[in-house]
Amino acid sequence: MSKSFFIETYGCQMNVADSELVTGLLQQEGYTPTDDIDTADAIFVNTCAIREHAEEKVHSRLGTFQKIKQRRPDVIIGVLGCMAQNLKNDLLENKPYVDVILGPDSYRHLPDILQRNQQQDHVVDTRLSRFEVYDDLFPSRQEGINAWISIMRGCDKFCTFCIVPFTRGRERSRSVDSIVAEARQAVAEGFVEITLLGQNVNSYRHGNAAFPELLEAVAAVPGLRRLRYTSPHPQDVTEELIRVMAANPVVCNSIHFPLQSGSDRILKRMNRTYTRKHFLDLVQRMRDLIPEIGITTDIIVGFPGETEADFEDTLSVMETVKFDSAYTFKYSPRPYTKAADYTDQVPEEVKSRRLETLIAVQKRHTLEQNLKMVGKVVDVLVEKESKKSDRQWAGRTDNNKWVMFDKGTARIRDLVPVRITAATGVVLHGELQEG
Ligand code: 5AD
Ligand code: SF4
Repeated sequence: MSKSFFIETYGCQMNVADSELVTGLLQQEGYTPTDDIDTADAIFVNTCAIREHAEEKVHSRLGTFQKIKQRRPDVIIGVLGCMAQNLKNDLLENKPYVDVILGPDSYRHLPDILQRNQQQDHVVDTRLSRFEVYDDLFPSRQEGINAWISIMRGCDKFCTFCIVPFTRGRERSRSVDSIVAEARQAVAEGFVEITLLGQNVNSYRHGNAAFPELLEAVAAVPGLRRLRYTSPHPQDVTEELIRVMAANPVVCNSIHFPLQSGSDRILKRMNRTYTRKHFLDLVQRMRDLIPEIGITTDIIVGFPGETEADFEDTLSVMETVKFDSAYTFKYSPRPYTKAADYTDQVPEEVKSRRLETLIAVQKRHTLEQNLKMVGKVVDVLVEKESKKSDRQWAGRTDNNKWVMFDKGTARIRDLVPVRITAATGVVLHGELQEG
Protein backbone atom coordinates (compact mmCIF):
# COMPACT_ATOMS: atom_id res chain seq x y z
CA MET A 1 0.00 0.00 0.00
CA SER A 2 1.27 3.47 -0.78
CA LYS A 3 2.61 5.48 2.10
CA SER A 4 0.80 8.56 3.30
CA PHE A 5 2.14 11.90 4.47
CA PHE A 6 0.74 14.84 6.41
CA ILE A 7 2.12 18.34 5.91
CA GLU A 8 1.50 21.41 8.02
CA THR A 9 2.61 24.87 6.93
CA TYR A 10 3.63 28.00 8.86
CA GLY A 11 4.68 31.41 7.63
CA CYS A 12 4.41 33.26 4.34
CA GLN A 13 2.86 32.44 0.98
CA MET A 14 6.24 31.21 -0.24
CA ASN A 15 5.94 28.46 2.33
CA VAL A 16 2.39 27.65 1.24
CA ALA A 17 3.69 27.39 -2.33
CA ASP A 18 6.65 25.28 -1.20
CA SER A 19 4.33 22.87 0.62
CA GLU A 20 2.29 22.55 -2.58
CA LEU A 21 5.55 21.79 -4.38
CA VAL A 22 6.50 19.13 -1.84
CA THR A 23 3.02 17.62 -2.06
CA GLY A 24 3.25 17.50 -5.87
CA LEU A 25 6.70 15.94 -5.71
CA LEU A 26 5.65 13.23 -3.27
CA GLN A 27 2.41 12.47 -5.12
CA GLN A 28 4.36 12.06 -8.34
CA GLU A 29 6.42 9.41 -6.56
CA GLY A 30 3.31 7.54 -5.43
CA TYR A 31 2.82 8.91 -1.92
CA THR A 32 -0.63 9.96 -0.76
CA PRO A 33 -1.40 13.18 1.09
CA THR A 34 -3.63 12.81 4.16
CA ASP A 35 -5.31 15.20 6.61
CA ASP A 36 -5.15 12.59 9.35
CA ILE A 37 -2.02 13.12 11.39
CA ASP A 38 -2.73 10.01 13.48
CA THR A 39 -2.45 7.58 10.60
CA ALA A 40 0.14 9.34 8.42
CA ASP A 41 3.37 7.41 7.74
CA ALA A 42 5.27 10.69 7.65
CA ILE A 43 4.58 14.05 9.29
CA PHE A 44 6.19 17.19 7.90
CA VAL A 45 6.12 20.70 9.26
CA ASN A 46 7.13 23.50 6.91
CA THR A 47 8.54 26.16 9.20
CA CYS A 48 9.02 29.93 9.38
CA ALA A 49 11.86 31.77 11.11
CA ILE A 50 10.93 35.38 10.40
CA ARG A 51 10.11 36.27 14.02
CA GLU A 52 10.67 34.53 17.33
CA HIS A 53 6.93 34.05 17.72
CA ALA A 54 6.78 31.98 14.51
CA GLU A 55 9.48 29.68 15.84
CA GLU A 56 7.75 29.29 19.19
CA LYS A 57 4.60 28.03 17.47
CA VAL A 58 6.58 25.34 15.67
CA HIS A 59 8.33 24.31 18.88
CA SER A 60 5.01 23.73 20.55
CA ARG A 61 3.81 21.67 17.56
CA LEU A 62 6.96 19.56 17.77
CA GLY A 63 5.91 18.66 21.31
CA THR A 64 2.73 17.13 19.87
CA PHE A 65 4.69 15.26 17.22
CA GLN A 66 6.96 13.84 19.89
CA LYS A 67 3.94 12.28 21.59
CA ILE A 68 2.81 10.75 18.30
CA LYS A 69 6.29 9.33 17.81
CA GLN A 70 6.16 7.75 21.27
CA ARG A 71 2.92 6.00 20.34
CA ARG A 72 4.04 5.12 16.82
CA PRO A 73 7.86 4.83 16.68
CA ASP A 74 7.76 4.05 12.94
CA VAL A 75 6.34 7.40 11.90
CA ILE A 76 8.83 9.72 10.17
CA ILE A 77 8.94 13.27 11.52
CA GLY A 78 10.40 15.94 9.24
CA VAL A 79 11.18 19.61 9.80
CA LEU A 80 11.29 21.54 6.54
CA GLY A 81 11.93 25.12 5.51
CA CYS A 82 13.32 28.23 7.10
CA MET A 83 13.88 26.95 10.64
CA ALA A 84 15.91 23.97 9.46
CA GLN A 85 19.21 25.83 9.29
CA ASN A 86 18.65 27.57 12.57
CA LEU A 87 17.57 24.54 14.50
CA LYS A 88 19.79 21.90 13.05
CA ASN A 89 21.96 21.52 16.14
CA ASP A 90 19.18 21.98 18.64
CA LEU A 91 17.06 19.40 16.86
CA LEU A 92 19.82 16.86 16.61
CA GLU A 93 20.86 17.29 20.24
CA ASN A 94 17.57 17.82 22.01
CA LYS A 95 14.87 16.46 19.73
CA PRO A 96 16.00 13.02 18.60
CA TYR A 97 12.46 12.17 17.52
CA VAL A 98 12.95 14.46 14.51
CA ASP A 99 14.19 12.17 11.70
CA VAL A 100 14.55 14.57 8.81
CA ILE A 101 15.70 18.19 8.60
CA LEU A 102 15.59 19.78 5.16
CA GLY A 103 16.19 23.39 4.18
CA PRO A 104 14.17 25.09 1.40
CA ASP A 105 16.54 24.01 -1.38
CA SER A 106 16.64 20.30 -0.47
CA TYR A 107 13.09 19.09 -1.09
CA ARG A 108 14.10 16.88 -4.00
CA HIS A 109 15.57 14.41 -1.49
CA LEU A 110 12.22 13.75 0.14
CA PRO A 111 11.04 10.80 -1.97
CA ASP A 112 14.40 9.08 -1.47
CA ILE A 113 14.23 9.63 2.24
CA LEU A 114 10.77 8.11 2.45
CA GLN A 115 11.89 5.30 0.18
CA ARG A 116 14.65 4.31 2.54
CA ASN A 117 11.70 3.19 4.55
CA GLN A 118 12.93 3.44 8.06
CA GLN A 119 14.92 6.11 9.72
CA GLN A 120 18.17 4.25 10.21
CA ASP A 121 19.70 7.57 10.92
CA HIS A 122 18.87 11.25 10.90
CA VAL A 123 18.86 12.92 7.50
CA VAL A 124 19.98 16.53 7.55
CA ASP A 125 20.42 18.76 4.53
CA THR A 126 20.27 22.50 4.97
CA ARG A 127 22.62 23.42 2.15
CA LEU A 128 21.44 26.34 0.09
CA SER A 129 21.69 26.27 -3.67
CA ARG A 130 22.52 29.05 -6.09
CA PHE A 131 20.46 27.35 -8.79
CA GLU A 132 17.53 25.35 -7.40
CA VAL A 133 14.20 26.84 -8.58
CA TYR A 134 12.22 23.57 -8.89
CA ASP A 135 11.47 24.56 -12.47
CA ASP A 136 10.42 21.10 -13.57
CA LEU A 137 8.04 20.32 -10.70
CA PHE A 138 4.32 21.02 -10.73
CA PRO A 139 2.84 21.92 -7.37
CA SER A 140 -0.28 20.17 -6.13
CA ARG A 141 -2.55 23.12 -5.40
CA GLN A 142 -5.10 23.22 -2.61
CA GLU A 143 -7.24 26.21 -3.45
CA GLY A 144 -9.51 26.51 -6.45
CA ILE A 145 -9.44 30.18 -7.43
CA ASN A 146 -5.96 31.56 -7.00
CA ALA A 147 -2.80 29.71 -8.01
CA TRP A 148 0.41 30.77 -6.28
CA ILE A 149 3.33 30.58 -8.69
CA SER A 150 6.80 30.97 -7.30
CA ILE A 151 8.92 32.89 -9.84
CA MET A 152 12.12 33.49 -7.89
CA ARG A 153 13.70 32.27 -4.68
CA GLY A 154 15.99 33.81 -2.08
CA CYS A 155 16.90 37.39 -1.33
CA ASP A 156 20.07 39.46 -1.78
CA LYS A 157 18.83 42.65 -0.12
CA PHE A 158 20.06 41.93 3.40
CA CYS A 159 17.77 44.24 5.33
CA THR A 160 19.50 44.28 8.71
CA PHE A 161 16.46 42.88 10.59
CA CYS A 162 15.73 40.00 8.26
CA ILE A 163 16.77 36.37 8.45
CA VAL A 164 15.50 35.45 4.97
CA PRO A 165 18.80 35.94 3.09
CA PHE A 166 20.29 33.40 5.52
CA THR A 167 17.47 30.85 5.54
CA ARG A 168 16.63 31.01 1.84
CA GLY A 169 19.94 31.99 0.32
CA ARG A 170 20.80 33.85 -2.85
CA GLU A 171 18.35 35.26 -5.36
CA ARG A 172 17.62 33.18 -8.44
CA SER A 173 14.81 33.35 -10.98
CA ARG A 174 12.95 30.88 -13.19
CA SER A 175 12.71 31.31 -16.93
CA VAL A 176 9.76 33.23 -18.41
CA ASP A 177 8.86 30.17 -20.48
CA SER A 178 8.60 27.82 -17.52
CA ILE A 179 6.53 30.33 -15.54
CA VAL A 180 4.17 30.91 -18.48
CA ALA A 181 3.86 27.13 -18.96
CA GLU A 182 2.90 26.73 -15.31
CA ALA A 183 0.42 29.60 -15.60
CA ARG A 184 -1.20 27.95 -18.64
CA GLN A 185 -1.49 24.68 -16.79
CA ALA A 186 -3.03 26.41 -13.76
CA VAL A 187 -5.62 28.10 -15.98
CA ALA A 188 -6.33 24.78 -17.70
CA GLU A 189 -6.96 23.29 -14.25
CA GLY A 190 -9.59 25.96 -13.61
CA PHE A 191 -7.68 28.66 -11.75
CA VAL A 192 -8.81 32.15 -12.76
CA GLU A 193 -6.37 34.18 -10.69
CA ILE A 194 -2.59 33.87 -10.39
CA THR A 195 -0.35 35.44 -7.76
CA LEU A 196 3.32 35.54 -8.68
CA LEU A 197 5.45 34.94 -5.65
CA GLY A 198 8.96 35.78 -4.59
CA GLN A 199 10.72 36.94 -1.47
CA ASN A 200 11.59 39.91 -3.57
CA VAL A 201 9.28 39.38 -6.47
CA ASN A 202 10.09 42.45 -8.54
CA SER A 203 13.82 41.94 -8.51
CA TYR A 204 13.01 39.01 -10.82
CA ARG A 205 15.47 38.73 -13.69
CA HIS A 206 16.08 35.92 -16.12
CA GLY A 207 18.27 36.55 -19.16
CA ASN A 208 17.05 39.83 -20.59
CA ALA A 209 13.63 39.61 -18.99
CA ALA A 210 12.87 41.74 -15.94
CA PHE A 211 9.70 41.73 -13.85
CA PRO A 212 7.49 44.02 -16.00
CA GLU A 213 8.06 41.81 -19.09
CA LEU A 214 7.25 38.70 -17.09
CA LEU A 215 4.05 40.32 -15.82
CA GLU A 216 2.97 41.08 -19.38
CA ALA A 217 3.79 37.56 -20.56
CA VAL A 218 1.75 35.92 -17.78
CA ALA A 219 -1.13 38.41 -18.16
CA ALA A 220 -1.41 37.31 -21.81
CA VAL A 221 -2.23 33.70 -20.88
CA PRO A 222 -5.70 33.07 -22.38
CA GLY A 223 -8.46 32.61 -19.81
CA LEU A 224 -6.61 34.29 -16.93
CA ARG A 225 -8.88 36.88 -15.29
CA ARG A 226 -6.61 38.35 -12.63
CA LEU A 227 -2.89 38.59 -11.99
CA ARG A 228 -1.35 39.68 -8.68
CA TYR A 229 2.15 39.53 -7.21
CA THR A 230 3.81 39.68 -3.82
CA SER A 231 6.02 40.95 -2.22
CA PRO A 232 7.86 43.69 -4.04
CA HIS A 233 10.69 45.84 -2.70
CA PRO A 234 10.21 49.61 -3.19
CA GLN A 235 13.73 49.87 -4.62
CA ASP A 236 12.69 47.74 -7.60
CA VAL A 237 9.36 49.44 -8.30
CA THR A 238 10.09 51.14 -11.61
CA GLU A 239 8.17 53.53 -13.81
CA GLU A 240 7.86 50.70 -16.32
CA LEU A 241 6.28 48.40 -13.74
CA ILE A 242 3.72 51.04 -12.77
CA ARG A 243 2.93 51.61 -16.45
CA VAL A 244 2.44 47.90 -17.12
CA MET A 245 0.10 47.67 -14.13
CA ALA A 246 -1.84 50.72 -15.31
CA ALA A 247 -2.12 49.57 -18.93
CA ASN A 248 -2.95 45.90 -18.42
CA PRO A 249 -6.50 45.12 -17.30
CA VAL A 250 -5.58 41.61 -16.12
CA VAL A 251 -2.93 42.94 -13.72
CA CYS A 252 -4.78 43.94 -10.57
CA ASN A 253 -4.81 47.47 -9.20
CA SER A 254 -3.27 46.47 -5.95
CA ILE A 255 0.18 46.38 -4.44
CA HIS A 256 1.70 45.21 -1.19
CA PHE A 257 4.27 47.92 -0.62
CA PRO A 258 6.35 47.37 2.53
CA LEU A 259 7.31 50.61 4.27
CA GLN A 260 8.99 49.10 7.39
CA SER A 261 9.71 52.57 8.81
CA GLY A 262 8.95 56.19 7.95
CA SER A 263 12.18 57.52 9.43
CA ASP A 264 15.14 58.05 7.08
CA ARG A 265 17.56 57.37 9.91
CA ILE A 266 15.95 54.02 10.70
CA LEU A 267 15.49 53.10 7.02
CA LYS A 268 19.20 53.59 6.60
CA ARG A 269 20.01 51.41 9.62
CA MET A 270 17.62 48.83 8.22
CA ASN A 271 19.53 48.93 4.92
CA ARG A 272 16.24 49.46 3.10
CA THR A 273 17.99 51.53 0.37
CA TYR A 274 15.15 54.05 -0.11
CA THR A 275 14.21 57.22 1.71
CA ARG A 276 10.86 58.31 3.04
CA LYS A 277 10.60 60.80 0.16
CA HIS A 278 11.30 58.18 -2.48
CA PHE A 279 8.66 55.91 -0.95
CA LEU A 280 6.09 58.71 -0.90
CA ASP A 281 6.96 59.75 -4.47
CA LEU A 282 6.35 56.18 -5.63
CA VAL A 283 2.98 56.08 -3.87
CA GLN A 284 2.05 59.34 -5.57
CA ARG A 285 3.16 58.07 -8.98
CA MET A 286 1.14 54.86 -8.54
CA ARG A 287 -1.94 56.82 -7.51
CA ASP A 288 -1.51 59.22 -10.43
CA LEU A 289 -1.41 56.41 -12.98
CA ILE A 290 -3.72 53.95 -11.17
CA PRO A 291 -6.24 56.02 -9.18
CA GLU A 292 -8.12 52.99 -7.82
CA ILE A 293 -4.99 51.23 -6.56
CA GLY A 294 -5.18 49.50 -3.19
CA ILE A 295 -1.94 49.82 -1.20
CA THR A 296 -1.09 47.60 1.76
CA THR A 297 2.12 47.53 3.73
CA ASP A 298 4.38 46.01 6.40
CA ILE A 299 5.64 48.15 9.29
CA ILE A 300 8.06 47.27 12.09
CA VAL A 301 8.06 49.16 15.39
CA GLY A 302 10.86 49.17 17.92
CA PHE A 303 13.75 48.56 15.54
CA PRO A 304 16.99 49.13 17.51
CA GLY A 305 17.58 52.83 18.15
CA GLU A 306 14.03 53.87 17.15
CA THR A 307 13.23 57.07 19.09
CA GLU A 308 9.82 58.67 19.65
CA ALA A 309 10.69 61.08 16.83
CA ASP A 310 11.45 58.18 14.45
CA PHE A 311 8.18 56.54 15.41
CA GLU A 312 6.34 59.83 14.76
CA ASP A 313 7.91 59.81 11.28
CA THR A 314 6.36 56.41 10.65
CA LEU A 315 2.97 57.67 11.83
CA SER A 316 3.25 60.70 9.57
CA VAL A 317 3.95 58.54 6.49
CA MET A 318 0.88 56.52 7.44
CA GLU A 319 -1.20 59.71 7.67
CA THR A 320 0.04 60.83 4.25
CA VAL A 321 -0.49 57.51 2.46
CA LYS A 322 -3.47 56.08 4.36
CA PHE A 323 -2.73 52.45 3.55
CA ASP A 324 -5.67 50.17 2.83
CA SER A 325 -4.30 47.79 5.41
CA ALA A 326 -1.04 47.04 7.17
CA TYR A 327 0.74 44.11 8.75
CA THR A 328 2.38 45.53 11.85
CA PHE A 329 5.19 43.88 13.78
CA LYS A 330 7.28 44.39 16.88
CA TYR A 331 10.94 44.11 15.97
CA SER A 332 12.26 40.67 16.91
CA PRO A 333 16.04 40.07 16.93
CA ARG A 334 17.02 37.22 14.63
CA PRO A 335 20.17 35.11 14.49
CA TYR A 336 22.81 36.01 11.86
CA THR A 337 21.31 39.48 11.28
CA LYS A 338 23.18 42.74 11.85
CA ALA A 339 20.44 44.43 13.82
CA ALA A 340 20.43 41.67 16.43
CA ASP A 341 23.89 42.88 17.45
CA TYR A 342 22.94 46.55 17.73
CA THR A 343 23.33 47.58 21.35
CA ASP A 344 20.43 50.04 21.46
CA GLN A 345 17.56 47.53 21.54
CA VAL A 346 14.17 49.06 22.37
CA PRO A 347 12.46 47.85 25.57
CA GLU A 348 9.53 45.47 25.12
CA GLU A 349 6.99 47.80 26.75
CA VAL A 350 7.93 50.63 24.36
CA LYS A 351 7.49 48.28 21.41
CA SER A 352 4.09 47.19 22.71
CA ARG A 353 2.89 50.74 23.20
CA ARG A 354 4.02 51.80 19.73
CA LEU A 355 2.41 48.76 18.17
CA GLU A 356 -0.91 49.56 19.83
CA THR A 357 -0.78 53.13 18.53
CA LEU A 358 0.03 51.89 15.05
CA ILE A 359 -2.81 49.38 15.02
CA ALA A 360 -5.31 52.04 16.12
CA VAL A 361 -4.15 54.46 13.41
CA GLN A 362 -4.31 51.75 10.74
CA LYS A 363 -7.80 50.71 11.80
CA ARG A 364 -8.98 54.26 11.22
CA HIS A 365 -7.28 54.40 7.80
CA THR A 366 -8.66 51.04 6.67
CA LEU A 367 -12.19 52.19 7.50
CA GLU A 368 -11.60 55.52 5.76
CA GLN A 369 -10.34 53.79 2.60
CA ASN A 370 -13.13 51.20 2.66
CA LEU A 371 -15.78 53.93 3.00
CA LYS A 372 -14.48 55.51 -0.22
CA MET A 373 -15.73 52.42 -2.05
CA VAL A 374 -19.35 52.87 -0.93
CA GLY A 375 -21.68 53.72 -3.83
CA LYS A 376 -19.32 52.37 -6.49
CA VAL A 377 -20.08 49.42 -8.76
CA VAL A 378 -16.99 47.21 -8.92
CA ASP A 379 -16.08 43.82 -10.37
CA VAL A 380 -15.90 41.12 -7.72
CA LEU A 381 -14.40 37.68 -8.26
CA VAL A 382 -16.63 35.18 -6.43
CA GLU A 383 -14.31 33.03 -4.33
CA LYS A 384 -16.26 31.23 -1.61
CA GLU A 385 -19.28 31.19 0.63
CA SER A 386 -19.29 33.85 3.34
CA LYS A 387 -18.41 32.44 6.75
CA LYS A 388 -21.20 34.50 8.28
CA SER A 389 -24.09 33.39 6.03
CA ASP A 390 -24.69 30.56 3.59
CA ARG A 391 -26.90 32.93 1.57
CA GLN A 392 -23.92 35.15 0.76
CA TRP A 393 -20.80 34.97 -1.36
CA ALA A 394 -17.41 36.35 -0.39
CA GLY A 395 -15.24 37.72 -3.17
CA ARG A 396 -12.48 40.21 -3.76
CA THR A 397 -12.34 43.49 -5.64
CA ASP A 398 -9.58 44.24 -8.09
CA ASN A 399 -7.92 46.38 -5.39
CA ASN A 400 -7.98 43.40 -3.03
CA LYS A 401 -10.83 44.06 -0.60
CA TRP A 402 -13.28 41.39 0.51
CA VAL A 403 -16.96 41.96 -0.33
CA MET A 404 -19.97 40.04 1.02
CA PHE A 405 -23.18 39.98 -1.01
CA ASP A 406 -26.34 37.88 -1.53
CA LYS A 407 -25.64 35.06 -3.94
CA GLY A 408 -28.35 35.72 -6.55
CA THR A 409 -27.43 33.92 -9.77
CA ALA A 410 -23.68 34.37 -9.33
CA ARG A 411 -21.44 31.30 -9.21
CA ILE A 412 -17.98 30.67 -7.80
CA ARG A 413 -15.27 31.89 -10.26
CA ASP A 414 -17.65 34.46 -11.84
CA LEU A 415 -16.44 38.03 -12.14
CA VAL A 416 -19.59 40.01 -11.33
CA PRO A 417 -20.54 43.67 -10.90
CA VAL A 418 -21.42 44.52 -7.30
CA ARG A 419 -22.64 47.83 -5.91
CA ILE A 420 -20.87 48.55 -2.63
CA THR A 421 -23.49 49.57 -0.07
CA ALA A 422 -21.59 49.59 3.22
CA ALA A 423 -18.09 49.31 4.64
CA THR A 424 -16.59 48.29 7.96
CA GLY A 425 -12.96 48.43 9.02
CA VAL A 426 -12.63 44.84 7.81
CA VAL A 427 -14.87 44.14 4.80
CA LEU A 428 -17.27 45.66 2.31
CA HIS A 429 -20.93 44.75 1.82
CA GLY A 430 -22.66 44.99 -1.53
CA GLU A 431 -25.49 44.08 -3.87
CA LEU A 432 -25.05 41.98 -6.97
CA GLN A 433 -26.04 43.93 -10.10
CA GLU A 434 -28.04 41.26 -11.92
CA GLY A 435 -28.73 41.35 -15.67
N1 5AD B 1 11.19 41.49 13.34
C1 5AD B 1 9.95 41.95 13.06
N2 5AD B 1 9.42 41.91 11.84
C2 5AD B 1 10.16 41.40 10.84
N3 5AD B 1 9.90 41.25 9.53
C3 5AD B 1 10.96 40.67 8.95
N4 5AD B 1 11.93 40.45 9.87
C4 5AD B 1 11.46 40.91 11.05
C5 5AD B 1 11.97 40.97 12.36
N5 5AD B 1 13.21 40.54 12.65
C6 5AD B 1 8.66 41.67 8.90
C7 5AD B 1 8.93 42.73 7.81
C8 5AD B 1 8.68 41.96 6.55
C9 5AD B 1 7.61 40.98 6.99
C10 5AD B 1 7.44 39.81 6.10
O1 5AD B 1 8.05 40.58 8.27
O2 5AD B 1 7.98 43.76 7.96
O3 5AD B 1 8.24 42.77 5.48
FE1 SF4 C 1 13.99 40.21 4.21
FE2 SF4 C 1 14.54 42.63 3.17
FE3 SF4 C 1 14.85 40.40 1.67
FE4 SF4 C 1 12.37 41.23 2.30
S1 SF4 C 1 13.88 42.38 1.03
S2 SF4 C 1 13.15 39.11 2.41
S3 SF4 C 1 12.68 42.07 4.36
S4 SF4 C 1 16.02 40.96 3.51
